[in-house]
Amino acid sequence: MQRITSLEQYQTEYKHSVENPEAFWAEQAEQFTWHKKWDKVLEWNFDEPNVKWFVGGKLNITENCLDRHLADKGNQTAILWEPNNPQTPARKISYKELHQQVCEFASVLKNNGAKKGDRICIYMPMVPELAIAVLACARIGAIHSVVFGGFSFKSLSDRIYDAECNIVITADGAFRGAKDIPLKSVVDEALQTSPSVKKVIVLKHTNTNVVMQNERDVWWKEEVEKLNLTGIQNLSGFKAEIMDSEDPLFILYTSGSTGKPKGVVHTTAGYMTYVDYTFRNVFQYNAGDVYWCTADVGWITGHSYLVYGPLLAGATTLMFEGIPTYPDAGRFWNVIDKHQVNIFYTAPTAIRSLEALGLDFVKPYKLDSLRVLGSVGEPINVEAWNWYHVNIGKNKCPIVDTYWQTETGGIMISPLAGITPTKPGFATLPLPGVQPVLLNEAGKELIGNSVEGRLCFKFPWPGIIRTTYGDHKRCKETYFDVFKKYYFTGDGCRRDEDGYYRITGRVDDVIKVSGHLLGTAEIENAINEHPDIVESAVVGFPHDIKGWGIYAYVICDHQRKDVDALKAEIVQTVTKYMGPIAKPDKIQIVSGLPKTRSGKIMRRILRKIAEHDLDNLGDTSTLLDPAVVEEIKAGAVK
Ligand code: WTA
Repeated sequence: MQRITSLEQYQTEYKHSVENPEAFWAEQAEQFTWHKKWDKVLEWNFDEPNVKWFVGGKLNITENCLDRHLADKGNQTAILWEPNNPQTPARKISYKELHQQVCEFASVLKNNGAKKGDRICIYMPMVPELAIAVLACARIGAIHSVVFGGFSFKSLSDRIYDAECNIVITADGAFRGAKDIPLKSVVDEALQTSPSVKKVIVLKHTNTNVVMQNERDVWWKEEVEKLNLTGIQNLSGFKAEIMDSEDPLFILYTSGSTGKPKGVVHTTAGYMTYVDYTFRNVFQYNAGDVYWCTADVGWITGHSYLVYGPLLAGATTLMFEGIPTYPDAGRFWNVIDKHQVNIFYTAPTAIRSLEALGLDFVKPYKLDSLRVLGSVGEPINVEAWNWYHVNIGKNKCPIVDTYWQTETGGIMISPLAGITPTKPGFATLPLPGVQPVLLNEAGKELIGNSVEGRLCFKFPWPGIIRTTYGDHKRCKETYFDVFKKYYFTGDGCRRDEDGYYRITGRVDDVIKVSGHLLGTAEIENAINEHPDIVESAVVGFPHDIKGWGIYAYVICDHQRKDVDALKAEIVQTVTKYMGPIAKPDKIQIVSGLPKTRSGKIMRRILRKIAEHDLDNLGDTSTLLDPAVVEEIKAGAVK
């Protein structure tokens, strides 16, 4: 498959994609295996919204990820797995083996009652079986909903409940650095409030003791072995379910401004076309390259650029179970040398934390296999960009700063590696098919360069969100009603004098903590589970390593003298209900919160106090009790 090879070609292709989007995307979709080609490329309006790509087409995405490559890449490594413990041998799974294992597990799912359209929750460590589970769901037409293994039981049960999943696929536990994290027991707790779940399939991984519930819980391995016993010897012929282009492929929950998580729905053909095109062009993948995306499959980056994008392109995708600092802060660089990684895609938080630990961890490694570096998930500051460029890329690897969202399915604004001239801190230019606009608060388009506003897109691309599961109104209100006729990202953005885009950050009530999108309301709900807390308000504050940290203002219902113990309990409560990623960095106990007369918390004021910008609180005269602001200012946590 061809890809863009020069800046001129990018410009021509971009022009073509905007002038004739349907022809452009149809050309990209031609290469795939279709059971039936589409009748119409695109049908859309942003009012309902209703977006359909490749209308009437019939296909299965796993035939395009796997079967299509068997003839010429059957023996090539599809998934290269690097375990948490460097002493444990790495695993290489060829396209042929992956195909076989996906077919087997698809059959296991069927035997356990799964069928097309079911929602299946996947809560697993970063092991190849996670990718196998994802693909097996897609093989049988079940909709996967992967929940990040760092989330705890309440977040997990909320997500299972919302999607009414009937099966959960999990493991006994996960290894993360020196820790051994239980997963199955978290599932057990979550299932106490999830009546829809009938089966739990458990992979043995850490050998932690687990309680298996009769009838409901089965072991992954035993179920696969049963297949052979029942005489299905050659499963490579396992027929993929034929799906409609617009049949849902997966739900992925993301945080929103209410405590209830939003199930972003992506469908089959458009998502497939978009992630394949963006993967090949942004990273400039060459046959034989080893590509490594460090994101967890529990996030969209893992879905699009660890599993689907690379496999659609017939690439070798490296999957890493561990963390950047185990056994020491040189692990990433060690793995790059060990597996001769050519393309490396990670998050600014990881770069900043490794930078802070010093170059001694980088020096022992050659890093000479690297050709392309990538960044994703949050704005990368100029200092981290330069450190990455000089010390990891040795001044010779282009950095692709890729801007996108769970809702966009794939990368939207990014350099093409080695083709688009880069500028530190800038996501640079839109990819072909992407039409960004900046709007002012009144919704007026800002024309020309050197402008800053709210980032929107004015035309659909194939990877765009179709709905939020079970609640189309929420999708409409969040993304399509804020500015009529536009998809609104929730991000602020600047277009500089060269027409380059620089994302300035969220303009709504979600915070990017270490690149993870967290809703303040969901964190507040977790804090409020503490019996002594009556109310809380969470805001973000700038954090050197994490990008943003979590600052919680809490009201206690009676005087607790042991303030430090109370704070520790709050942290524990959040960890228990939501997970360690949502732990507050700073907690301030207050007697009241700044509220308007109608009872709305004035977060703007709380944000300013958390940032120690005490002299610019703005107008506080509309507050019910302005005195409370003085008290909060006086007690602000440094
Ligand atoms: C932020 C992650 C600046 C942005 C793929 C967006 C970025 C949110 C970048 C989506 C980038 C992502 N530069 N900010 N290169 N990439 N963001 O859904 O605020 O986890 O709206 O998807 O991350 O986060 P999500």
